[in-house]
Amino acid sequence: MQVKETMIRGMYQLKIDQKNRLATQNKVPGTSVYGERLIKVDNEEYRLWDPFRSKFAAAYLSGMKLLPQLKGKNILYLGVSTGTTPSHFSDILDDGFIYGVEFSPKVMRKFYRLAEERSNMIPILADARRPEEYSSYVFDVDLIYQDVSQPEQATIFGRNAQEYLKPGGVGVIAIKSQSIDVSLEPEEVFSNQMKVLEDDFGLQVLESSTIDAFEKKHAVMIIKKA
Ligand SMILES: C[S@@+](CC[C@H](N)C(=O)[O-])C[C@H]1O[C@@H](n2cnc3c(N)ncnc32)[C@H](O)[C@@H]1O
Repeated sequence: MQVKETMIRGMYQLKIDQKNRLATQNKVPGTSVYGERLIKVDNEEYRLWDPFRSKFAAAYLSGMKLLPQLKGKNILYLGVSTGTTPSHFSDILDDGFIYGVEFSPKVMRKFYRLAEERSNMIPILADARRPEEYSSYVFDVDLIYQDVSQPEQATIFGRNAQEYLKPGGVGVIAIKSQSIDVSLEPEEVFSNQMKVLEDDFGLQVLESSTIDAFEKKHAVMIIKKA
């Protein structure tokens, strides 16, 4: 089997049955997190990374060029849910770690169990709309990744970036237009959210793309703090 590292270090492309599939090296061998296939190649176990379940993988396969490196980064992850995408970040990080914020106690229970097996995840049961509430747990980070279905997605990102993102730090935000305004065309919603990020919070949107092949009416934006 052919294994090739992608432009994101720690994210691999495996050729299986003539098809390219994304994967990470499993930090907890023998364990599948969300039913993904485990594949052994030369004594290394890989977990396939499903782009229909993860907007980071979807953004990569949609051709986004400026997705940030993850290895060694300290990440504030808003909306970890049960840990699908965070588990792949955890595989990649090495000595970096993830502060995982989630406000639903029900899904957080599963994330807590995942964090027991993965020492680079710090679960925080909190509302991402109120970043000041987790200031005792979170120190400045290199990267903020946000995937929350809320009406004020850009504002949530902006507030967290003001509070926790280092100068020069990068953000990735997955925006779901249907959570913001169902009456507008998705493109208009994305453009309004971009304006909030730039005009209200002084952030720079470096790249923006829809991920239609994987999730309808979603965009992913790469953001930089000066
Ligand atoms: C689409 S899911 C996240 C999926 C996850 N990022 C992944 O790729 O594996 C969105 C999650 O955001 C959480 N969420 C929504 N609003 C939130 C808020 N204000 N604060 C924290 N979590 C929130 C939801 O409970 C849900 O679990």
